[in-house]
Amino acid sequence: MVEVPRIDPWSSEQYADYSKIVEAFGISQFSLDAFKLPDPPVLFRRGIVFAHRGFERVYRAIERRERFAVLTGLAPSGKMHMGHKMVVDQVMYYQQMGADIFIGVADIEAWGARGVSLEEGRRIALEEYVVNYIALGLKPERCQIYFQSDRKEVKDLAFLLSRKINWSEMRAIYGFTDSNNMTHIMSPLVQVGDILHVQLPKHGGPCPTVVPVGIDQDPHIRLTRDVASRFRLFSVQPSDYGAGVFLKGDREDADDLLKRASDALSAIWDLEVNMPYRALYVKTNDLIDVDDVIVDLEALHNPWTFIQPSSTYNLLLTGLRGEKMSSSREESAIFLTDDPDVGASKVMSALTGGAVSAQEQRRIGGDPDTCTVFDLMRFHLVQDDRELAEIYRSCRSGERLCGSCKRFTAELVRAFLKDMTDRRAQAVESVQDYVVQE
Ligand code: TRP
Ligand code: SF4
Repeated sequence: MVEVPRIDPWSSEQYADYSKIVEAFGISQFSLDAFKLPDPPVLFRRGIVFAHRGFERVYRAIERRERFAVLTGLAPSGKMHMGHKMVVDQVMYYQQMGADIFIGVADIEAWGARGVSLEEGRRIALEEYVVNYIALGLKPERCQIYFQSDRKEVKDLAFLLSRKINWSEMRAIYGFTDSNNMTHIMSPLVQVGDILHVQLPKHGGPCPTVVPVGIDQDPHIRLTRDVASRFRLFSVQPSDYGAGVFLKGDREDADDLLKRASDALSAIWDLEVNMPYRALYVKTNDLIDVDDVIVDLEALHNPWTFIQPSSTYNLLLTGLRGEKMSSSREESAIFLTDDPDVGASKVMSALTGGAVSAQEQRRIGGDPDTCTVFDLMRFHLVQDDRELAEIYRSCRSGERLCGSCKRFTAELVRAFLKDMTDRRAQAVESVQDYVVQE
């Protein structure tokens, strides 16, 4: 039996052993062989987005140019750093692919888990996060940034969907104890509300949704996906015949629902109906197509019809001293608002994968795989794959030494931060084009 590690989304622990997590929680590997995304950005090309749940559904929407949504949340505490930029890069890519973008400011969570007041959360979100998002290139079209505390439907879902979540489940997922405050305990439910509210009729109805996150957020994703399926009337599963569609629970309108489902499905596929078992067997292996038909039907009866949201997981950027990159540790991260000189000097004192001396490094080479400076280039600063491969190779071979390599990277950081300073000055003027106060 695999030992299941508990992931705590609020701790500052590092999760070094990603493969164990992937295995224990049944997450799938992400690869561009499976998902041939058009013009994938570096995070997809370089294995930084390394795993997913249910991305097939989003990929299909991208391929077919159908509606899909991206939902991400940001906890307004502290400053935004290069680690946060990863999610923004993904959001912007999906925006180019035609997604509807929803960005929730997790001010309720920041209050519950960290004691940040709503006023302070709002200020930090607007001055720090929103401005940086815009400066990084997010476009206002089909994009809304909202606050959890403003959005009634998010809070309503948090309350009402909790009907199907029990306390022992919350304790098992999050390790809550008697001394956790109730807002903290409820904050994952608000996050469920964040992720699912984009599929309410008000926002266009059920649609594939992708939530790009760091692996530390997976507990929320598992909870949300489970809740989404608990509110479905039918379950769609693989069966010997192809797809099995089963009506759940006891319902007065069972016969009517089954009849409608069998009409809709038999218009497309061969079907076997087993009324006593409330089961329909569909001759196709394309479960997503079948589910789409059923979702459309359910949505007519149930405003809480949700397609299970998909997620992708990116590696966490290691802090410059080798720990988890954190907003609260000045020296661990390059902040997007750092003065360009300060950012450059942080690179100069960062932990590298270099050998003890230059002489030794010429002999045995460096280790880019454990180098925080290399990671900055790999995750963010070097766009050209061939150039990055050459840096990797010459580091390993000992031709490239850390001193000059850090100076090179420091200049890239300086240029990036300088650019951000300029773009932020522009961005402050357009904040209102993004933020929705409801
Ligand atoms: N919990 C996230 C964090 O700590 C913030 C968040 C709130 C979020 N709602 C979300 C992230 C929905 C992804 C999707 O950063
Ligand atoms: Fe890192 Fe560059 Fe040193 Fe290699 S040469 S270990 S990539 S700093």
